[in-house]
Amino acid sequence: MTTASAPGKIILVGEHAVVYGRPAIAVPISKVKATATVEEAARGTGCVIIAKDLNRTIRVSEAEPDDPLAAIVRSTLTHFHAQELDATITVISTIPIASGMGSGAAVSTAIVRALAGHLGHTLNNDILSALVFEVEKLYHGTPSGVDNTVIAHARPMFFVKNRLVETFTVKSPLYILIADTGVLSPTKTTVGDVRQAWETNQEKYDTWFRQIGQIALMARAAIIGGEHFALGALMDGNQWLLEQMGVSSPEIDRLVQAARQAGALGAKLSGAGRGGNVIALTADQTRGAIANTLREAGARNVIAATIA
Ligand code: PMV
Repeated sequence: MTTASAPGKIILVGEHAVVYGRPAIAVPISKVKATATVEEAARGTGCVIIAKDLNRTIRVSEAEPDDPLAAIVRSTLTHFHAQELDATITVISTIPIASGMGSGAAVSTAIVRALAGHLGHTLNNDILSALVFEVEKLYHGTPSGVDNTVIAHARPMFFVKNRLVETFTVKSPLYILIADTGVLSPTKTTVGDVRQAWETNQEKYDTWFRQIGQIALMARAAIIGGEHFALGALMDGNQWLLEQMGVSSPEIDRLVQAARQAGALGAKLSGAGRGGNVIALTADQTRGAIANTLREAGARNVIAATIA
């Protein structure tokens, strides 16, 4: 039996603009994770995936080509030149689905790692990330690659599409709250809507994307320099631009306002928007009180994460 896990993630700044080649900053969140376990099965039974949280049992040989869980198993077996194996792959995840925390990429990453272990292979993170990226296209349409990169490497990332991976060190811990609006929002739909809006109004959207890219550059400097007030202000600026782009929502706005009024240094949506999670940057001392305020303002769940 082989087991492997992968963390969730949040995007601190830069979502959507990152799809158009601008930088984004993303960090892994190890408090939530996807876990895959591979167990050998009787000869001739083939490969079966049991996705407990999705209530799905998938026989890989019979699954549609665009089934993301079957697809990651197939591409991993192809990568290792393995025959279809007789095994049961069980997947469980504590990462909320369709909420901007990279659940799809984390599940794929855990499956690839567990299968590699089962087959007796090791895999470097770049290849792992590339395998997961192909399946991200099934979930997301035109993904930037930020999710698979930050989740495979499990390190804070300064990410630019099609560029070499760049990690960095966080000078002093970032105290983050991740508050769930409870509204499910598939990334594919929102990313598609932004593309349509960009096509009809390229100049305006390109300006916003450029400004978000500048925010990401300044945010990296603020994180490296331990300037949390500056980082908070940059997150607020990023949220304002995301609101202009039409990817915020009343539920997001309510949680963002509540966090700011309770003393957060900055707050914004994280991920594709229209629902999913809001993130707030806090001081260590104020984190508990701001978490309570977020719950009172309607957050379904609040995760406290420290990025160090
Ligand atoms: O909603 P998530 O966690 O998949 O994040 C999407 C981030 C986007 O920038 C909106 C899309 C992308 O592929 O980068």
